[in-house]
Amino acid sequence: MEIHKVGVVGCGLMGSGISQAAAVAGFPTVVRELSQELLDRGLASIARSLAKFVEKGELTAVEKAQALGRLQPTLALEDFADCDLVVEAIVENLDRKKELFAELDRIVKPEAILASNTSSISITELMTATRRPTRFLGLHFFNPVPLMKLAEVVRTVATEPEVVQLGLDFARRLGKTPVLTTDRAGFIVNRLLIPYLVDAVRALQEGVGTIEDIDQGMKLGCNHPMGPFALMDLVGVDTTCYITEILFNEFRESRFAPPPLLKRMVLAGMCGRKSGKGFYDYADPKNPKVNKLLQ
Ligand code: 3HC
Repeated sequence: MEIHKVGVVGCGLMGSGISQAAAVAGFPTVVRELSQELLDRGLASIARSLAKFVEKGELTAVEKAQALGRLQPTLALEDFADCDLVVEAIVENLDRKKELFAELDRIVKPEAILASNTSSISITELMTATRRPTRFLGLHFFNPVPLMKLAEVVRTVATEPEVVQLGLDFARRLGKTPVLTTDRAGFIVNRLLIPYLVDAVRALQEGVGTIEDIDQGMKLGCNHPMGPFALMDLVGVDTTCYITEILFNEFRESRFAPPPLLKRMVLAGMCGRKSGKGFYDYADPKNPKVNKLLQ
């Protein structure tokens, strides 16, 4: 089997990036959102991102137009019927994802592969919503997808080796370097990243340093492109907290326990860049200032 046509469910932060990468790589790509407004927003962010690549000379204007032309936006799941691979990138909610996979399983052809971009929900559990355990896997991309070079390919105990290979090849076609991992909460990257991020919150609360100094420390001291607080704002404070809870539930180890401050920020709607405020205030997005309310 070969992958010719791709489907992406969700055109938010991750879904738009995956759709963009697939379209640039030459795949006709069906992308679905729940409303026209969400679809338009996602497509506009793809167009903006492609424009940046054109500005930098990494894509031509023609290639940009061709990529946009390969995208088939839709509101209907039925449009995935003839896709060879469908990647789910909707909200991180187990029940909603399972409902979606059960529906997709009825719609897409039997040999098609279903994949989830979940950062932390068990791939095996999502697989149980379908009747195709051997043709189900995780394809976990990183934010911002158009720039980040990694894709985690997650196999379950039931994934056929051919499907794993197709997942690895697909990631490479998208210009990503795949790493293969098994279905354990957090896979490789979040298993290691999340304890680091939540430790930064604990360090802040213990008065080890300010938000700015801790970020600066990790940027200049370890050559990270951004410090832990800026990174949580990029990923989403809510997403970080959610992944932390899943890791804690799986391993019951205190290093994964979500710090109370993180939970309170989520309740207060301080979810990072997407909500305009997190550890930083993005009133002027090009010049974020530390969120004074947290000092
Ligand atoms: N599309 C195209 N171009 C983009 C872009 C996008 N979506 N986002 C940023 N860029 C471009 C900018 O226009 C800029 O171009 P320029 O050099 O011509 O000005 C360039 O990329 C660099 O962007 P910025 O100047 O805004 O900022 P940085 O130099 O800090 O780079 C970054 C941004 C690539 C996000 C970098 O800071 C970085 O690599 N940060 C770490 C990201 C990371 O760790 N991601 C993984 C998170 S974990 C995850 O996703 C897993 C999940 O499960 C939680």
